[in-house]
Amino acid sequence: MNYENIIVATHGKVGLITLHRPEVLNALNDGLIDDLGAALRLFEADENIGCIVVTGSEKAFAAGADIAAMVNWDYMEVYKTNFITRNWDCIAQCRKPVIAAVAGFALGGGCELAMTCDMIYAADTAKFGQPEVKLGILPGAGGTQRLPRAVGKAKAMDLCLSARLMDAEEAERCGLVARIIPAAKLLEETLAAAATIANFSLPMLMMIKESVNRAWESSLHEGLLFERRTIHAAFAMDDRKEGMAAFLQKRKPVFKNR
Ligand code: HXC
Repeated sequence: MNYENIIVATHGKVGLITLHRPEVLNALNDGLIDDLGAALRLFEADENIGCIVVTGSEKAFAAGADIAAMVNWDYMEVYKTNFITRNWDCIAQCRKPVIAAVAGFALGGGCELAMTCDMIYAADTAKFGQPEVKLGILPGAGGTQRLPRAVGKAKAMDLCLSARLMDAEEAERCGLVARIIPAAKLLEETLAAAATIANFSLPMLMMIKESVNRAWESSLHEGLLFERRTIHAAFAMDDRKEGMAAFLQKRKPVFKNR
């Protein structure tokens, strides 16, 4: 499939999507998000893909929603087209693990898009921020909701109200970022980590993702109940039997995704 705004590749069991609007630092418009959604759906449907990586360029993961595209929109237009909800949830809806590999700027909608991934691996050059207030608007693709859940209210308020940027070290310290990787090795190391993940049992990866997400979206009581139901269900899986048998037989497991 040909895309205008992204580049798609596969590395073994890992699907790689590179945001590609270099002239505007990967500013996010409907075309790019539609391309991203289409590529994700194909990877989702592809039984050979176990993990997906979304990345940008050396200079920018994405510098936010496309300001030039938005400048003349009015209320009725964004309401009727269901701006954001219509297509921005494509990563959050993906059931397979998705890693954001972020170098350079991840600002506004770029930071929000990275946060819809299951985890963020950041180059040491990464800069995160929600500078929308400078444009007279607010983070509207999850920034005021996912950021406080990830980093706590104090830092989320600071970033959203002051528009300051946060470097990779601070982002890791406060829990936004899972790992920091030297910029020159970001893609290589992220793909290697993604390959490790992709070799596990896919339905189990999906169950783990669903269960961890419950920790964000429900009370502890509800989350623990969901987790318990899920681990009970895992005992019906061939891959669970295979994983435990392989350990006891001192061999590598062969997962069959069932
Ligand atoms: C459209 C953008 C853009 C954006 C950069 N460009 N960000 N175009 N939308 N979000 C364009 C610039 O206009 C410029 O085009 C080219 O990309 C290179 O950018 P420069 O500014 O020249 O680069 P630099 O000086 O290195 O500064 C990088 C930067 C700056 C700090 C990232 O570009 C910047 O502040 N960008 C905007 C960041 C921002 O406010 N993001 C939030 C957007 S609102 P030309 O033609 O001049 O070469 C948002 C709302 C989300 O995300 C809520 C709903 C989804």
